[in-house]
Amino acid sequence: MNKTTELYSGKAKTVYETDSPDHLILEFRDDATAFDGTKKASLARKGAVNNQFNAFIMTQLQTAGINTHFVEQRSANESVVKRLAMIPVECVVRNIAAGSICKRLGLEEGQTFAEPIFEFFYKDDALHDPMINDAHILAFQWATADEIEQMKQLTLAVNNILKPLFAEAGILLVDYKLEFGRFHGELVLGDEFTPDGCRLWDADSGEKLDKDRFRRDLGNVIEAYEDVANRLGITLT
Ligand code: TMP
Ligand code: ASP
Repeated sequence: MNKTTELYSGKAKTVYETDSPDHLILEFRDDATAFDGTKKASLARKGAVNNQFNAFIMTQLQTAGINTHFVEQRSANESVVKRLAMIPVECVVRNIAAGSICKRLGLEEGQTFAEPIFEFFYKDDALHDPMINDAHILAFQWATADEIEQMKQLTLAVNNILKPLFAEAGILLVDYKLEFGRFHGELVLGDEFTPDGCRLWDADSGEKLDKDRFRRDLGNVIEAYEDVANRLGITLT
């Protein structure tokens, strides 16, 4: 499969059209951003680490029965994916209190919830990704009631697959964000699953091993991503 034209360049990935109308190529770049793109840096190896991390997780999810857009890894920092029509919402699941829910509800970071909490956000950096609910998604016709139900169920199903996977590597899956799209009418998991879009804490020390290291200037950002990858058994090239 060959790249043809650049379709879109996001904050950390560039998307290319290919000679197949049903496929795109994702190029994971070394760019890191936070706080809706206002904080920026280039971190050596990030693109390759995240591409290989994502390939591993997407393959695990696919094997466990989740329909994903992932087709194959193409190079160290590129993957072939199915071309989805993306739904502009972010599906977040939280197992432990961190990030925006702490500010919103006045919680201490680190509290484990009795049940995983599901939240929808509207994907719009200029508006700081505001929290929304099912009614907004229906009123703006971003997705049908059936698709909303599928997004919730699939995002929670991913928790049941990934929480034990990370736990075996001595890592707590604190929270994560997923995005979905449609492929010939079917709801499919798109975008990526990397330490850029989730929170991962060392189970013993509580050390942060995700993008909070970049957000909070904790240093060794990519070293932490590589540590997680190694602990999951991913062989990075
Ligand atoms: P939050 O605490 O900022 O709401 O984020 C919850 C989780 O979802 C966290 O792991 C980061 C991820 N996330 C993104 O990666 N991008 C986003 O735009 C949002 C809203 C969340
Ligand atoms: N995903 C957003 C960004 O990269 C928000 C964040 O991660 O802080 O700007």
